[in-house]
Parts: sequence; C-alpha cells; structure tokens
Amino acid sequence: NRIPLIAGNWKMNLDHLQAIALVQKLSWSLKDARHNFGEVEVAVFPPFTDLRSVQTLLAADKLALKLGAQDVSPQQAGAYTGDISAEMLAKLDSAYVLVGHSERRHGHSESDELVGEKARAAQAAGLVPVICVGETAEDLETHGAAAIPLAQLAAAVAKLPADAEFVVAYEPVWAIGSGEPATSEQAEEVARALRESLRDLRGDDVAAATRVLYGGSVTSQNIASYLRQPNIDGALVGGASLKADEFSRIVQFK
Ligand code: 13P
Repeated sequence: NRIPLIAGNWKMNLDHLQAIALVQKLSWSLKDARHNFGEVEVAVFPPFTDLRSVQTLLAADKLALKLGAQDVSPQQAGAYTGDISAEMLAKLDSAYVLVGHSERRHGHSESDELVGEKARAAQAAGLVPVICVGETAEDLETHGAAAIPLAQLAAAVAKLPADAEFVVAYEPVWAIGSGEPATSEQAEEVARALRESLRDLRGDDVAAATRVLYGGSVTSQNIASYLRQPNIDGALVGGASLKADEFSRIVQFK
C-alpha cells in the first residue's frame, strides 16, 4: 500500500522562466494522459530560485504535482549567510526536501551527522525529508553495495523522532549521470537491505510504510523494471526530469 513517488531532481538547471515553461508542459502532458496523482505521486525539486514561480503555477493550475527543495539548512534562522531554512521552504508549499544527495555529501563535504540534522530540521518544519544514500564505485569494491547506504541511513534516522515520516532514496554514486544505471536486481538488493534495517531501527510499521526510491540514470526505458521490484517504491530522476515529455513518460511507467 505504498504509493509510488516519482521525483524529478533538476539539480542546478533551469532559471525560473525555464522552470515555468517545463512545469506547464509537464502539466499539459499529465492532464492529457489523465494522470492519477493518487495512484502515482509526482514531485519536482527545482533550484531555490525557481520555487516561488513553480508554487504559484501549481496553485493557479490546481495541479496535484508536489514541490520539493534540493537542500536545507540544519538551523532554524539567524546569521547563516547563503542558507535557506525549512520554515521558508514550508511557506512555499514544499512538501519534500532532499538531504544528503551525493553531490552535497561529496561536493560540499556533508557528513552523516549534518545530513541527519538537516533531516531533523526539515521534519520539525513539517516537510518530509528524502534521505539520499549511496555508495561510490570505490565503496562498492571495498565494502560491497549495501554497507555504506545502510550506515548513512542509520546515521540520519538516528536524528529523527520516532513518529517522523521520511523517504529513502538509494542512489549509487557510480550510476548518477553516468548512463550506467544499476540493474533492477542490484537496486532491489540494496532497497531490501535498507528496508530490513528500517525494521531494526524503527520497527515493522515504519519499515512497511516507508518508501524507498531508486536513483541513477533512470529513463522512460528502464523505469518499469525498477517499479516491478517489491522493495522499490519510485524513482529520483535527474537528467531525464529536465524534459517534459520524457519525465511524463517516466511518471506513466505503468
Ligand atoms: P541522473 O538521473 O541524471 O543519473 O541523476 C540521478 C540523481 O542524482 C537524482 O538525484
């Protein structure tokens, strides 16, 4: 009974005018297809500078597309130049926020501890954190696929209160933007291990209710193979979410 979530992470692409154009096209395409948002949830994660424009468009269109941000400050407010608070994102009707994306962990040296604090700040403001985990190619060689993602998940979940809702996104770093996605079997194996560890960390109910997404070179060609896996409940899509037609096909994977 987990509703699949298809999430588009735009990364540092599209200014607010291009964002409006993309969401308009996506909206037309999904309306044409009579997409049932209750059956497959859809969310976009634009850069901060686009959020207000996309929010306005979604509200005017009464479109059930959800909004998320790509990062958040662990702090509530104050002298944190350049940072954006969870409260600010909530005011813009953001439902979700990514925490611990590999491009933040590696490009900005974000620790497991900081990622957990960001998840906590998001949750406290009423947002659902999407906790991103994944191993590098080197990790895969030395530790196998699951060890690093499991450690990253445990560290983040440790910062969240017992009743917190969150989403997990498994994104092997070697599969991101490489055109070399994990096979659906590889992704399922780690997704299953993540769910099993949620059982230990949070109990059966949380493990059964929490959505685990796969991310890394997802396209309209391979999306269905992931969603057929019992422990994969959606996708975090990068490059392919920047084209309305392609993202629309991914959303309609069935
Ligand atoms: P790609 O889909 O471009 O591989 O990016 C995946 C990703 O990092 C989404 O967060």
